[in-house]
Amino acid sequence: AKYTVVDQETCIACGACGASAPDIFDYNNEGFAFVHLDDNEGRVEVDEDFYDDLEDALEGCPTDSIKVASYPIVLEEV
Ligand code: F3S
Repeated sequence: AKYTVVDQETCIACGACGASAPDIFDYNNEGFAFVHLDDNEGRVEVDEDFYDDLEDALEGCPTDSIKVASYPIVLEEV
């Protein structure tokens, strides 16, 4: 299983992730990315069909803001 979340503290709204994986990532009003599967909560499994897209997004993010794990991810609220 794979779960993903965007760390919006470090995202610079570059827009690469949504281009690589439009079925996973979307942008809020300020242009910062979030995982639209679960409103960026890191709790909903990514469909296997999108693993390749997820990998592309992960590698393409210039700030390493995309977190991927095999378990639900909880980012600390700052
Ligand atoms: Fe942000 Fe990285 Fe996507 S900087 S917009 S999470 S590619």
